[in-house]
Amino acid sequence: MRQGTISIALACAVLAAACEPAPLDKPIARSEALQAPSRGLGSPDDLPLPLAVSLNETMVALVDFAADGVWRPAASETPLTDTQWALIDQNAVNLIAAASLITMKGQGVNDEVWIVNPDWRRWSLEMQATAAQVRSAVTARDQERLRLAGDRLVEICQTCHQAFKPGLPSMGVTRFPVYPKPSTN
Ligand code: HEC
Repeated sequence: MRQGTISIALACAVLAAACEPAPLDKPIARSEALQAPSRGLGSPDDLPLPLAVSLNETMVALVDFAADGVWRPAASETPLTDTQWALIDQNAVNLIAAASLITMKGQGVNDEVWIVNPDWRRWSLEMQATAAQVRSAVTARDQERLRLAGDRLVEICQTCHQAFKPGLPSMGVTRFPVYPKPSTN
């Protein structure tokens, strides 16, 4: 009971902090935890911050951009440059991190239901593992492996979308810039 009360109080404090950031013209105050680092260890202060956007927004603004940054160079017929490989690696890192984010309850109306479904978790994990394959292809500078990992990524997006995506997106989120890309629907 005490634990529950503390959790709720903490959630409110975190949400209030997210909703009412400090004024931009004021210096950011150091938190107590930062002033006394040993205090935070093992305490509720160590919990991840809540995901303060919807999973749909995370898809549009993060997952989709990162996947594009893998698919475009993966389709290249010419040898990739070091810069291109470095960018692919960064996009793979974004996908790996995003895979963890989409297993968290965001602010979307369906998010809570989706994340507890074992299939949701499985496809998120597959996305993460495939992004790790992309990184291996980068390390090996292997374009064929990159192409195969990219193809697998398309399959994962499609499979999860077929299983979970509602007929209409749950929010009116639009992707910018809008440009042609491999279909994931
Ligand atoms: C674990 C399941 C899952 C995975 C994996 C997944 N998505 Fe999604 N995605 C969804 C769901 C569900 C929605 C609809 C969200 C909503 O409407 O609230 C969505 C929405 C989107 C949207 C918003 C546009 C729309 O049509 O609703 C884009 C863009 C998107 N996903 C891209 C991708 C890409 C690219 C990948 C793969 C790299 C991917 N997603 C992987 C579940 C997933």
